[in-house]
Amino acid sequence: MTHAIGITDISAATTSLFFPLTSLAEAQGTSPGKYLRGIGQHEMSVPGDDEDIVTLAARAAAPIIERHGTKEIRTLVLATETGIDQSKAAGIYVHELLGLEHNARVVELKEACYSATAALQFALGIVARNPDEKVLVIASDIARYELDSSGEATQGAGALAMLVSADPAIMAIEPASGLFTENVHDFWRPNDRSTALVDGRFSVTVYLRAVTAAYDDYVSRGGAEFSSIARMCFHQPFTKMAAKAMQTLAKHAGAQSVASAVSSLEETMIHNRRLGNTYTASVYMGLLSLLENAGLRAGERIGIFSYGSGAVAEFFAGTLVEGYREHVRPGALTAQLDARREIGYEEYRERHIRADRTGDYETRAEGKGPFRLAGVRESVRVYEKA
Ligand code: HMG
Repeated sequence: MTHAIGITDISAATTSLFFPLTSLAEAQGTSPGKYLRGIGQHEMSVPGDDEDIVTLAARAAAPIIERHGTKEIRTLVLATETGIDQSKAAGIYVHELLGLEHNARVVELKEACYSATAALQFALGIVARNPDEKVLVIASDIARYELDSSGEATQGAGALAMLVSADPAIMAIEPASGLFTENVHDFWRPNDRSTALVDGRFSVTVYLRAVTAAYDDYVSRGGAEFSSIARMCFHQPFTKMAAKAMQTLAKHAGAQSVASAVSSLEETMIHNRRLGNTYTASVYMGLLSLLENAGLRAGERIGIFSYGSGAVAEFFAGTLVEGYREHVRPGALTAQLDARREIGYEEYRERHIRADRTGDYETRAEGKGPFRLAGVRESVRVYEKA
């Protein structure tokens, strides 16, 4: 490989509504501490009537297109587990909304929360072969569990876009990668369901098993030593999960201080505490939060652990590029989070039920982003500029 390849731009989006977990706890008669401290979540983003994974994806990527234009982007990969069609890639709608060139390929990837990492790895391969091209990777998801289930507190919504190129402006991705796959039913969503099925405790166990297995493979493939990784980002279905993961990994890797390894995760959790689980986007929301808030130096190495139930996991790392912070738009996602409207328990439940509607419908204009889902007409999803 002659060029460094990696992330040259990164931008995120969320929905126009949020539901605080204190309201969920109050309605359930549960102690708020279970959510605020026990799982480390404060809020969950909830989509408005005219928001879905397409409008979120396009909202996340729009600032990247504004900065870099469309000419060099010949591939768009959209990672999601909230698919809107069994055949057509959701990214094709995003391609149109963003005004990307017709001479481009678009595809959708699925493997629970992991697939954005597969998308990133595929993008690195495409750029290695064609260093003049850029690849737009977008992770976009709306995490939904059944009402009154234990997964309910770990819902959320958001999208994160990354532009992958040679000579990246933010982070160069290193070649070593550790992989792990195991056929388990910890979390899955059959085709006839709109909400996930989950074995919560088991999912935590498999996630932790995957952390050490993927890390060991990473080391055996020439990956960096634990002590030379300045910070780590873990997939965050809820922020406490990242703390559990770091505790397990730091002990396994013989870290000098497990406690300080765990506390070094704080800056990765700032956005996710308010977003909830954003599935494919979650680990990269952690990365964005770190880049915005940690004041790291160029050359420092960031480890990334990506996990998708089912289960597939990957551990890899990248190094920060000189001047990276000028490219991350500090405060942009926080402004969107702050602008959301708070909803109460009754409205949250009504919206949860309404999200399962099928057939044709028109939507109310609620979203705060540049694009909206106008409705479904004769089984066709119709998007428009807001
Ligand atoms: P639960 O049964 O509601 O909660 O399930 P719990 O009883 O296990 O309590 C949670 C924590 O709160 C515990 O801490 C309690 O002690 C603590 P822990 O023992 O785990 O350290 N607690 C309190 N702390 C302070 N004050 C209090 C208090 N009360 C209790 N008053 C669970 C929680 C996460 C399992 C559930 O919400 C769930 O099933 N969520 C969905 C599944 C999930 O997120 N799994 C994570 C790993 S799998 C994954 O990451 C993949 C995924 O993103 C999907 C994909 O890949 O696509 C989910």
